[in-house]
Amino acid sequence: MKPAFVFGTRPEIIKLAPVIRAFLERDVEPLLIHTGQHYDYEMSSVFLEELELPRIDYHLEVGSGTQAEQTGKAMIKIERVLMDERPDVTLVQGDTNTVLAGALASVKLKIPVAHVEAGLRSFDRTMPEEINRILADHASEVLFPPTEEAKKNLEREGITENVYVVGNTIVDAVLQNAEVAEKKSDVLERFNLKPKEYVLITAHRAENTDSRENLEKLVQILESLPMRAIYPMHPRTRKRLEEFGLLERVEAIENLTVTKPLGYLDFLGLEKNAFAIMTDSGGIQEEAIILGVPCLTLRYNTERPETVEAGGNILVGLEKDRALGYLRRLMEDEEFYEKMANAPNPFGDGRAGERIAKILLELHERGELRVRSSRFI
Ligand code: UD1
Ligand code: UDP
Repeated sequence: MKPAFVFGTRPEIIKLAPVIRAFLERDVEPLLIHTGQHYDYEMSSVFLEELELPRIDYHLEVGSGTQAEQTGKAMIKIERVLMDERPDVTLVQGDTNTVLAGALASVKLKIPVAHVEAGLRSFDRTMPEEINRILADHASEVLFPPTEEAKKNLEREGITENVYVVGNTIVDAVLQNAEVAEKKSDVLERFNLKPKEYVLITAHRAENTDSRENLEKLVQILESLPMRAIYPMHPRTRKRLEEFGLLERVEAIENLTVTKPLGYLDFLGLEKNAFAIMTDSGGIQEEAIILGVPCLTLRYNTERPETVEAGGNILVGLEKDRALGYLRRLMEDEEFYEKMANAPNPFGDGRAGERIAKILLELHERGELRVRSSRFI
């Protein structure tokens, strides 16, 4: 069995590492294809090193561009590799342009696609990620939704076969790395932070950063924070802040430390010890509830509604009064804080990677890992 993994961004590396590891433990050597959608050391290589991934077989150096430029370039380059290598299955994870490119290139070569973290929906078709998720799910032969709720989204779109709820591989990643982070990371000392006395902030989504109006709303929230905060800043956000002339305002905020993006071990350390997390990231909404840290999400919708239903996450959008109102309530109301911090993790037991490898190997053995002419027969 020859599985190919196509990935290109920070969260894909983090969430696919447990699946790659599971194949290696079964003595199956995976083919690793990195599109290069993310290319800075701290957005890519740091994770390959920390998560001890074996060599990358193909580095496609696609880089940045418009939606179509990036997706198209990735598709062309992925297709060439898949034609040469003819893997038995192509695994993609999540909803980035790399995922869409990998899924389309693969299925058209009749190489079946397995989609890890299938079935997520924000029900907001203006997000590039939502289009990528829907199309990737429909191009896929085997689907691994993390939760029953994600499975229901697939059912609603007529996808009912080869669907396996396995949990989210982010739990595997957190469990595999939290202890290592504890031993190896000195992140709190480096930034002079005390446990549970700071807020961890990240924001990078196109809808929050691409318009000056929305980005300024984010800056206004940062300017009014009632507590020490740290913001490891995604390069997209830094670029936009510079472009809109807002970076100096952010750098002038006294109780806010802005840093480059951090490696996974440092970042896990910051998450685990944070008083609360404010973010628009998908993966960080998940990690917050896994680690028992209250999360205020800087968005108006989420494709992770399980976190909100469980009580660990509140959608605050970019509304300053709402965001800071909830942060103050967390600071003043112990019962409210404990309730959010103790919300149950809806993403499984940390063995999603093992399940995915096992299911794909079994399908392969039975000769069922192939692109069928119809899903409905
Ligand atoms: C992408 C995903 C998003 C995911 C995020 C994870 C899409 C449509 N979006 O968004 O869903 O949440 O990755 O972090 O696929 N840049 C650098 N260095 C890098 C990478 C990017 O400077 O290593 C800058 C470039 O200016 C680039 C911008 O960031 O134009 C955006 O990068 P891109 O990969 O297009 O999208 P992300 O915002 O990273
Ligand atoms: N992350 C990290 N360093 C950082 C910021 C995030 O290691 O400085 C990790 C985080 O722990 C999570 C993943 O990156 O596992 C989330 O990636 P991101 O927010 O870029 O993308 P999203 O999940 O929104 O697609």
